[in-house]
Amino acid sequence: MVRLCSSFSIALAASLFFVGSGSSCLLRAQTVVPPYTPYRDAALPPEKRVADLLSRMTLEEKAAMLAGSGWMESASNERLGIPAIKMADGPMGVRAWYGSSAITNAANAATVVTSTSFPAGETMAATWDPDLVEREGVVIGQEVKALGRDMILGPTVNINRVPLWGRNFEGYGEDPFLTSRLAVAYVRGVQSEGVIPSVKHFAANNEEYERHRIDAQIDERTLHEIYLPAFKAAVEEADAWTVMSAYNLVNGVHCGENPILLNDILRKEFGFKGFVVSDWGSTYSTAATVNAGMDLEMPGGDPMRSFIARPEALGNGSGAGWLTADKVLAAVKAGEITEATLDRNVERILRVIFVSGLFDHPHVATGIVDTPEQRAVALEGATEGIVLLKNTAGLPSSNAPLLPLDAKKIHSIAVIGPNAGVARTGGGGSSLVRPKQAITPEEGIRAVAGAGVKVTYALGVGMEGETPEQDSTEARARLRKEAADAAAQSDVAILVVGRYPRLESESFDVATMDLPAGQDELIEAVEAANPHTIVVLNTGDPVTMTRWIDKTPALVLMGYGGQEGGKALANILFGVANPSGKLPVTMPKHFEDSPAYGHYPGEHLKVNYAEGIYVGYRYYDTKKVEPQFPFGFGLSYTTFEYHGLDVHSSRIDSKEPTVTVTVKNTGSRAGAEVVELYLHDGHSKIDRPEHELKGFRRVELKPGESKQVEFWLRRQDFSYWSPDKKSWVADAGAFEVQVGGSSRNIQLKAPLELK
Ligand code: BGC
Repeated sequence: MVRLCSSFSIALAASLFFVGSGSSCLLRAQTVVPPYTPYRDAALPPEKRVADLLSRMTLEEKAAMLAGSGWMESASNERLGIPAIKMADGPMGVRAWYGSSAITNAANAATVVTSTSFPAGETMAATWDPDLVEREGVVIGQEVKALGRDMILGPTVNINRVPLWGRNFEGYGEDPFLTSRLAVAYVRGVQSEGVIPSVKHFAANNEEYERHRIDAQIDERTLHEIYLPAFKAAVEEADAWTVMSAYNLVNGVHCGENPILLNDILRKEFGFKGFVVSDWGSTYSTAATVNAGMDLEMPGGDPMRSFIARPEALGNGSGAGWLTADKVLAAVKAGEITEATLDRNVERILRVIFVSGLFDHPHVATGIVDTPEQRAVALEGATEGIVLLKNTAGLPSSNAPLLPLDAKKIHSIAVIGPNAGVARTGGGGSSLVRPKQAITPEEGIRAVAGAGVKVTYALGVGMEGETPEQDSTEARARLRKEAADAAAQSDVAILVVGRYPRLESESFDVATMDLPAGQDELIEAVEAANPHTIVVLNTGDPVTMTRWIDKTPALVLMGYGGQEGGKALANILFGVANPSGKLPVTMPKHFEDSPAYGHYPGEHLKVNYAEGIYVGYRYYDTKKVEPQFPFGFGLSYTTFEYHGLDVHSSRIDSKEPTVTVTVKNTGSRAGAEVVELYLHDGHSKIDRPEHELKGFRRVELKPGESKQVEFWLRRQDFSYWSPDKKSWVADAGAFEVQVGGSSRNIQLKAPLELK
């Protein structure tokens, strides 16, 4: 007993005391039992713990909570045992938390951190598979913990407004409904692991051009219908623990000091209870920021100083951040911030520390990442996220479409292109994860084609700006000829083109919708040399295809597939997997066709969202502008038929499905169809788009198999935002339910009368 007592922790000795033993040893232990501190009691509700902890904090300690203590850490408080929140960038996996978000950082960071590189958000969106995105959230959460971090800076849920936004690849596309479903899924997955996500960037961060100074002029209806729904859903449905404010201004006020956005909309309208973290260096004032309800400025301490030393990063010079303890204290003393307001900010941070479990169960790094299970999710995402855009003209001996390739019938393949021999896993910036290993398209194709197929590789053209000596006219002509020769000598040519992180990235917008220099010419040369050419697009933002698309028999959008992208591509090309991805964005023929053309990037640091709610297919389908490929489009190696559309308006907002429809696999291969449901408002008194996506379901079907798909519609789905009433309004009257395989491939329609 004595021996035991001497080695016991205070806590254990205290518990023995309560067991009721009367030994002298235990009496001694009683003297060191700390007083009961409610905030340390995991059995109490978080609100009680927060209140208790806050009551023990000095004004100085509270003020010190509002700024980070480093590049990726919030401030800790040793006296009270408040842990720092250790963050890491995302959302496509866990990015190294050292140093800035400079575009090459993940690849060149001095301290190497590797983890699973998942497909870009846009590629995950092409899966239309919330279950998969939730599983992605779970495994990313596991990797965050395994690396000893607590918070991941994602998901990115900003809408793809302009085809040139440098970060389109990070988000979930152009539609608020699809984006909302996936945002909810990602947040649920991450939070289920006790890891803190950060839904970003609130709000309307839709271009990188002058991102610290650009003022997005957006009317209230457009804001509510297009740019805010994903944040709303993440808060209301997934109870997201944090939201990240954006760099830009909305309607004249920076997002980080915007009381309409942060207090009126996020907190009062959506009921957000978590804390708002600034984007890195997106605070521009002290009192206005705190009073608007922005809680935590990041980064903090020395990194903030060096960050601000880069004037282009902040656009103004403020020394060492705006929410440093001394600045916050001075503002409190000057009466610019009340202590009650400061308390609210601190409470919100503390609440998340308790609710997430971080206080009671600090994450201990095991270093175990990139497990087979985690990799399997990345591969599933990369595979389901591939979109087959065109598939015609087979080999000379057959009339069948060119894809899938049959390794038994093909003897030689030329694998060509600046993205064929290198794994371009994602776009540039803070989302770029450094994987332990990544499979290139060439490696993937060699592995799946097998030893019986001769695979020849040719660069074809250097990636613009990557290796300057390859950019000369002579070098391009030589490389193009080598590629055309390789294509001419092969049964099939697979041409992998696209962008890379120095052309498509956070911090700047993509310069042009055209493919990087020399790639269009390469496609033309290879197609002229071999009519059996498959063009693969390895990019986030859409590209202009008009120069070659008519002559291209097969076109595949692989997007950014993360570390497993090359394997996923090969599995699709050879039919190991059947493509099921659908476009989460419209692909215009030309940039000039896109709705924001003429209202981008803005003038005099103001960008007018003059197209209003007509973003993406809402514009193309209403104004009858022919896109290259419509929203929701994607082919399969099998075919589907829809029948039996049944609509029950009495079941809106009920437990019974409002809409049922049957989909049948009429081909000879197993495959998955994404069934899309759009609502058309046939009686509207106000301007409404031709139709809007309000439901979707990805269904796996064996050959010949039929399944009934069910949709539950809510009154909310029929509503628009009324600036007059300051609320959602659903006008009773005639609607039409449209079901099909893309926004332009409506297979079945039925009327619905909203009471
Ligand atoms: C990006 C954020 C990112 C942060 C931290 C910023 O530049 O906009 O998305 O999470 O840096 O790296």
